[in-house]
Amino acid sequence: MEIAVLGYGIVGSGVVEVLNLNQENIARRAGKDIHVKYVLDLRDFPGDPVERMLVHDFKTIAEDPEVEIVVEVMGGVNPAYGYVKECLERGKSVCTSNKELVAKHGAELLEIAKQKRVNFLFEASVGGGIPIIRPLNQSLTADEIMEITGILNGTTNYILSQMHDYGYDFETVLKKAQELGYAERNPEADVEGYDACRKLAILTSLAYGKQVDYEDIYTEGITKITTEDMKYADAMDASVKLLGTGRRENDKFFAMVAPRIVKKSHPLYSVNNVFNGILVRGNVLGDVMFYGSGAGKLPTASAVVADVVDAAKHVGTNIMTLWSSKKLALSSSEEAESVFFVRVPAEEKEAAGKAFGAVKEIKAEGVTGEFAFLTEKLTEGAFAEKSRQVTVKNRIRVEL
Ligand code: HSE
Repeated sequence: MEIAVLGYGIVGSGVVEVLNLNQENIARRAGKDIHVKYVLDLRDFPGDPVERMLVHDFKTIAEDPEVEIVVEVMGGVNPAYGYVKECLERGKSVCTSNKELVAKHGAELLEIAKQKRVNFLFEASVGGGIPIIRPLNQSLTADEIMEITGILNGTTNYILSQMHDYGYDFETVLKKAQELGYAERNPEADVEGYDACRKLAILTSLAYGKQVDYEDIYTEGITKITTEDMKYADAMDASVKLLGTGRRENDKFFAMVAPRIVKKSHPLYSVNNVFNGILVRGNVLGDVMFYGSGAGKLPTASAVVADVVDAAKHVGTNIMTLWSSKKLALSSSEEAESVFFVRVPAEEKEAAGKAFGAVKEIKAEGVTGEFAFLTEKLTEGAFAEKSRQVTVKNRIRVEL
């Protein structure tokens, strides 16, 4: 079976490497040999074996009827969207790791794939090498998904883990993460939570079968988390993690990305450094958790190639995926309830009691001059109202 790879960056070169490395096993599982006929990239790679397959013009791939599966690993919405759409319309299956593309156009591309009896697969778009898209589509189908909560970004998880374990501040660890290649030179998409937000949009759309627009998800990053916050978290036998959470409460749906205090007893507490973890709560199954390498060349390529195998096994058959373009009505984040951890100046202890009522004081070794406490469970709206009566140094939601 002839395939083409759009983009010879980190993931694209990983896909070619995995296909070569595990060629025989992949052929056995797919029931046929998988052969890369073309790799599309604007650049030249002199001396690289990929040279033989390299093309600079998408049309060569689109117009070649021999190419039955196209791997899109270019990233970004454009020109990936146009290319993927054209491939599907021409009856080629597409496997992608591109979360921006899937979050924005997933429902439409799935619909085209269905009409053309091909497949649009995107296992690698969330959680890198962790199987989560296929389990949601094919394994957890007996359940109503009550909650899906994940550590969906390896860069921020690395930063928070290092802050927690070694007491470093955010800027110091960010610099180290950039030196190690875990964080981009422009780290905004990771540290502001945008990457996790797109992944959560994909997960919630699949969990509830309707479109969740990432623009509608309340998103907070980790840039305001301090060494003091980590000391308090430690005092509570907890850590701070960036969580993406989609939740169903009766007929209401909530989605939010925010740093949260996660206690040692929580299943996601032990997901550290660049690893990702996704906890799914079903109404009959209970809890199930997926853990593993959420980023990186080979783990991501592993998920992409697994999609290629699946596409090769389903020639002429569309694997049904429930994701309608009809929008899921998310409830306002103002209505979402949390316990909040709050820090105010020491002299505002009384004011904090007046504003929030019964609070539980939290002390951390070496942090002075302030009063820190846990509130009762409050809505975001009520918290915002009450917190106007004090000078909040920082506040972090607590994962129960
Ligand atoms: N920047 C992402 C992360 C890469 O750190 O998880 C994988 O999507």
